[in-house]
Amino acid sequence: EKGMYPYYMLKEIDEQPAVLRRIVQQYQNSAGELEIPNELKQAVEAADRIHIVACGTSYHAGWLGKHFLEKMAGIPTEVHIASEFSYNPPLIKGNPLFVFISQSGETADSRQVLVKVKEWGYPTLTITNVQGSTLSREANHTLLLHAGPEIAVASTKAYTAQISVLAILAATLSEEKDFALIHELGIVANAMDSIIAEKEQIAELAEAYLTDKRSAFYIGRGLDYYVSMEAALKLKEISYVQTEGFAAGELKHGTIALIEEGTPVIALITQAENASHTRGNIEEVRSRGAHTCVCVMEGLQQESDQLVLPAVHPMLTPLLAVVPTQLLAYYATLQRGFDVDKPRNLAKSVTVE
Ligand code: F6R
Repeated sequence: EKGMYPYYMLKEIDEQPAVLRRIVQQYQNSAGELEIPNELKQAVEAADRIHIVACGTSYHAGWLGKHFLEKMAGIPTEVHIASEFSYNPPLIKGNPLFVFISQSGETADSRQVLVKVKEWGYPTLTITNVQGSTLSREANHTLLLHAGPEIAVASTKAYTAQISVLAILAATLSEEKDFALIHELGIVANAMDSIIAEKEQIAELAEAYLTDKRSAFYIGRGLDYYVSMEAALKLKEISYVQTEGFAAGELKHGTIALIEEGTPVIALITQAENASHTRGNIEEVRSRGAHTCVCVMEGLQQESDQLVLPAVHPMLTPLLAVVPTQLLAYYATLQRGFDVDKPRNLAKSVTVE
């Protein structure tokens, strides 16, 4: 039930801090440590490479899974668009593990790959929000998102839940115990609360940047690029503003030709190591007329920046940076007069290939 909320999407955005806290609880053992089922742990430890397979928002979460699995657990990881898998299957050597990320657990494109991988005899894990869903039943292992039902077509809390569960998976395989993920996720949940409490500010940004626009860009580097892709999908699928998420440094290799007077370019800056480079890219588009909006993590901000996010662990910034982009999509859609929860041409669960 959406209760006092005008739309499910807003309710589901608001639920994210609580979902994050619930996930931490669900994956904690009696000693207060993060834990995954032992058989799954053994299966992942036996793998010398992980192949993540997913669609849409879940695919975007997959890129963060790659980052965590490689950085925390040291396992080489590839990310595949499910519908492309059969045309360009990975070269498989050794002992791979296939990980399917799917909010619904019913997506036909992902299931088709799961069926094939099972025929090949490789172990499989599904990360899903729906217990007993097709992809969960058919895989060897399941990790649940514990996000509660997601009703709005545009996925929000499932994305942050997927990232959190992927981080937990990677952390439980990590040799280094110095990264206190439970503590850091708690900081993220509190930071999410404070962004959500100030959503009016984001409604104003949506009005200032997006109401009468036909196109927009999100740019970022590294983890901020991954979030830019998801932010762009969110904005385009419900507000119908044609939006691209771009690697900030890649824009000048062609796409910058699309920048006109007033084109909104929203830059995400959460990583100290690439902040100055992304700032350079912001200048490049600003000097060509772009209406730039900077969403930056505390500590990296400049006076002219539009939105400052509370500081969180550098590896977990995507969990936080995506929240204002979800709210921007929500408010832009409201202001443009469209149905937030039921965008045209889309279904919540895509059961055709
Ligand atoms: C976008 C969105 C879709 C889904 C995609 C995969 O907001 O919801 O891109 O992420 O259709 O769906 P699942 O995760 O159910 O496999």
